Amino acid sequence: MFQKIVDWIDARIPMTETWNKHLAQYPAPKNFNGWYVFGALAILVLVNQILTGIWLTMNYEPSGDGAFRSIEYIMRDVDYGWLLRYLHSTGASAFFVVVYLHMFRGMMYGSYQKPRELLWLFGMLIYLVLMAEAFMGYLLPWGQMSYWGAQVIISLFGAIPYFGDDITLWIRGDYVVSGATLNRFFALHVIALPLVLVILVFLHIIALHEVGSNNPDGIEIKRKEGTVPKEAQTTQFTFHPYYKKGKTIIDAIPFYPYYIVKDIVAVAIFFIFFCYIVFFMPEGGGYFLEKPNFEAANPLKTPEHIAPVWYFTPFYAILRAVPDKLAGVLLMFAAIAVLALLPWFDRGKVRSIRYRSVLHKLNLVQFVISFVILGYLGVQAPTPMFTLMSQIFTLTYFGFFFALFVYSKNEDTKPLPERLTR
Ligand code: HEM
Repeated sequence: MFQKIVDWIDARIPMTETWNKHLAQYPAPKNFNGWYVFGALAILVLVNQILTGIWLTMNYEPSGDGAFRSIEYIMRDVDYGWLLRYLHSTGASAFFVVVYLHMFRGMMYGSYQKPRELLWLFGMLIYLVLMAEAFMGYLLPWGQMSYWGAQVIISLFGAIPYFGDDITLWIRGDYVVSGATLNRFFALHVIALPLVLVILVFLHIIALHEVGSNNPDGIEIKRKEGTVPKEAQTTQFTFHPYYKKGKTIIDAIPFYPYYIVKDIVAVAIFFIFFCYIVFFMPEGGGYFLEKPNFEAANPLKTPEHIAPVWYFTPFYAILRAVPDKLAGVLLMFAAIAVLALLPWFDRGKVRSIRYRSVLHKLNLVQFVISFVILGYLGVQAPTPMFTLMSQIFTLTYFGFFFALFVYSKNEDTKPLPERLTR
């Protein structure tokens, strides 16, 4: 009976074929390590955000008068409302933790290099939309930090010559952040941006499956096609175009069951950390939910110290490192743009850090240190000392890309293995 239903559907849409090609029989390199779980975890967090978001919307009131009150109502009176809210607010931070680790994996193994440039660009678009999504979501509780954070960030657009004031007015829909701003942010946060995000993730995966996954060795898995040793041959990829052409894929294993099992372990470990935060420290020490946000928005009272949520702070530190507002804004956007251009800054032929020069390893380490320190500086109140440090680490942040561009052309790399090593 079940098979009959499947056959009926398959005769009308390619369900089984799609399932096998993109999931069950997707030929994944056999040497994936722990760094390869973050893509699956990002999908998990995305689903968590969408589901908890839908249920939060059922009791949330998107108006200047009602927003803060409705959050209190969700926290105190709605059945399990507190859980929904904490899953959603912790999920936002978890999303960035997972995505930053996912991006770092790509940088370590050169997953952005040819032929995966478009995959990387889709990733960067996802990252941009994710930042917009998080920023708009943060206004919705209508607390002090929601209000003043939005005020500060939106006013950055005022630095644009000639059109700046008109653009800020257009974004806010008012002369100050108000209920009108809240309404439009709500519309964008609950439908427009999630829709774009889901479409981009879909394109991201299609692009990945077109070129195939990279791996910790950074070499292609299909390179030995044709001369496959008998014992390495497999019939597990019956749906793959390679198999149909009579070729065999070596050094790959099907996604099901091998990586499904591995990802389930990762999901279990992730949930241990995630649930610990949700149940025992949902405010994340004031980093996930900031203290001033427990006070309703008050346009007449500016908080003493306004800082964005932790995942924006590296870029916020870069913004503040420059005394001129416009130059700061440009540099902040440039910090994101250089990441997108990574496939072109890196002119190396070898992908994985395993086979690259000591110089490259040091450069990547210094990049991570710069990013983390900038993140720290972005939450601190600016002092002359911190501003100087922000300037130094902004230089080392950009230095990573320029140094890479220079040395990657003639880098002293190790010989690549013929086949995947582990
Ligand atoms: C909602 C956010 C995202 C989701 C759901 C997502 C999902 C995935 C999945 C499922 C994979 C395959 C499994 C894996 O390799 O881990 C993948 C691979 C990849 N992603 Fe993402 N991703 C997201 C964001 C990003 C971002 C922001 C970037 C970088 C700018 C990025 C770059 C890549 C690259 C380069 C690969 C291929 C890695 C390789 O084969 O070595 N992704 N992504």
